[in-house]
Amino acid sequence: MSNVLFCPPTYFDVIDVKNPFMQGASVDKAKARAQWEGVRQAFADAGCGVREIEAVPGLEDMVFAANQTFAAVTPRGEKFIVPSAMRFESRRREVPYFVEYFRKAGYRVIDLALPEGEFLEGGGDLLWNADERFVWAGHGSRSTRGGVARFTQAMALVGVKVVQLELCDPRFYHLDTCLAVLTHESVLIHPAAFTDDALAEIRSRAKRVHEVSEEDALRFTCNGVSVNGRFLVSALTPGLEKILAAEGLQPMPVDTGEFEKSGGSVCCLKQFVP
Ligand code: ARG
Repeated sequence: MSNVLFCPPTYFDVIDVKNPFMQGASVDKAKARAQWEGVRQAFADAGCGVREIEAVPGLEDMVFAANQTFAAVTPRGEKFIVPSAMRFESRRREVPYFVEYFRKAGYRVIDLALPEGEFLEGGGDLLWNADERFVWAGHGSRSTRGGVARFTQAMALVGVKVVQLELCDPRFYHLDTCLAVLTHESVLIHPAAFTDDALAEIRSRAKRVHEVSEEDALRFTCNGVSVNGRFLVSALTPGLEKILAAEGLQPMPVDTGEFEKSGGSVCCLKQFVP
């Protein structure tokens, strides 16, 4: 069974611009709370164990629990985390709370000690392939090439393979905004978000690569999450419906409109806890 970690949206707000979606639209706090509960419930309904980390006043983006750490298990069964080096100062302050959470739960901390100017943003840019044979790692807007390179070296030491993908459209600023792992053999992507080399890499590794239009991608369809035969997603467009049917995945639409004002949806709101 998959466990997922959430952080409640108690202090969630949009107060600056960290990505092109953050255009200052004001957040309806009650609506955000209800949507967040809906997402959490959808994961529970899909058979996941749901965990919670306490929200901290002043950390308005902490609700996006995907980013602060990368939590995983080595092929030998050792639980570890890699703390993120967030690009934005305000988000850097979220990281110690997650590190503490995982340290208490017995995870080894693999600190990359990235030099200044190199960034790595956890589950926003690092996604396990469904067969757990490697991690897709995006860089470009938020994580840097150097950050991902250092991550790749550190993962090699614990037996985890990493496939690096360069992103090239600022609107698709994290890998989880333009790539969703669907099954052991298939992924969902918005192709224009990737460099030619990255696209070739994706096509060489996934048996089936399903593409979504720009319009659908801007509705955060690639930020959906495939879990236990379901696909939890912000918008069930006709294009996506066909793809999910072909892959035998059951669509589970959830409303994430308030979080989309901050550039985030389903995948951003949770972290898988192995
Ligand atoms: N406002 C947040 C930021 O820009 C959104 C983070 C979304 N997270 C993600 N995994 N894509 O940092």
